Amino acid sequence: MAENALSFIQLADPQFGLFARLSGLSEEQIAAFRARGLNAQPAPKITGLADEIRLFSAAISTANVIRPAFVVVCGDIVDQWDDDAQAEEALRIGALLDDGIDLHWVPGNHDVGADARHEVPTDESLARYRSRFGPDNYAFQHGDASFIVLNTAITQHPEEVPGELETQMAFLESELRAARLSQSSHIILFTHHPFFLENQDEDKPEEAHLTIPIERRRPVLELLGEYGVDAVFAGHWHRNNYAFGGDMEMIASGSVGYPFGNDPSGYRVVQVEGSGLKHDWYAMDEMPASINTP
Ligand SMILES: [Fe+2]
Repeated sequence: MAENALSFIQLADPQFGLFARLSGLSEEQIAAFRARGLNAQPAPKITGLADEIRLFSAAISTANVIRPAFVVVCGDIVDQWDDDAQAEEALRIGALLDDGIDLHWVPGNHDVGADARHEVPTDESLARYRSRFGPDNYAFQHGDASFIVLNTAITQHPEEVPGELETQMAFLESELRAARLSQSSHIILFTHHPFFLENQDEDKPEEAHLTIPIERRRPVLELLGEYGVDAVFAGHWHRNNYAFGGDMEMIASGSVGYPFGNDPSGYRVVQVEGSGLKHDWYAMDEMPASINTP
């Protein structure tokens, strides 16, 4: 790793509780998940959080070896927004990250979605998230790079939380302006939902749960374009996906937890360099070749 490069590790979808929820499914239930693009696999019924504990612990241990500037967890920390045991395990393992490596949480739809489909935030679910994991829209700085976290569960489904979307858009614009004023070398966003799948103008109602609806996506992307945002790192699909909106890279990373595609559970290492961004996806049992283990 280049001496002066800032590096961070992006994690997504540890989703404590999902392995158990997707175990012991009937063929019909599996077919229903697959119809929504969620590639559930037949598995014997289990309970508990053993798989998520193993995988998230491995990700945090790997980060303690790689020693990036920070680790960001791009949402769906838990499977069920009001399950205390799931949140407590995620927080317990997150706290095992070594001192000197910051941990940044990003909310996903499962962390704040209080409806049956885990999509729609409410005042209660937002309050619960904020009391456990901290703010859901916030910005931070490392070196001369600016990072902005957005709660895209609100962007996707603002209907039950009046005022939140307006607050979020004002926050985004103000942080982008601040980044420009401070002449940030890079501006990077962290979200849970990718804004789009293949191109920024796509409009596929049948895939609405996978991205941000076009009417709320456009104003955000206009702002990101105006301020020269380099990249958005997201999760949500439990598989890797890469696209561009103009010059802005739209990266969806595979999951720490249950995978829905061909990418195994894993993590992404990102290097922020003067000339741009370099990022690579690793399976959980892989280690970047250039890392010198202590
Ligand atoms: Fe999600």
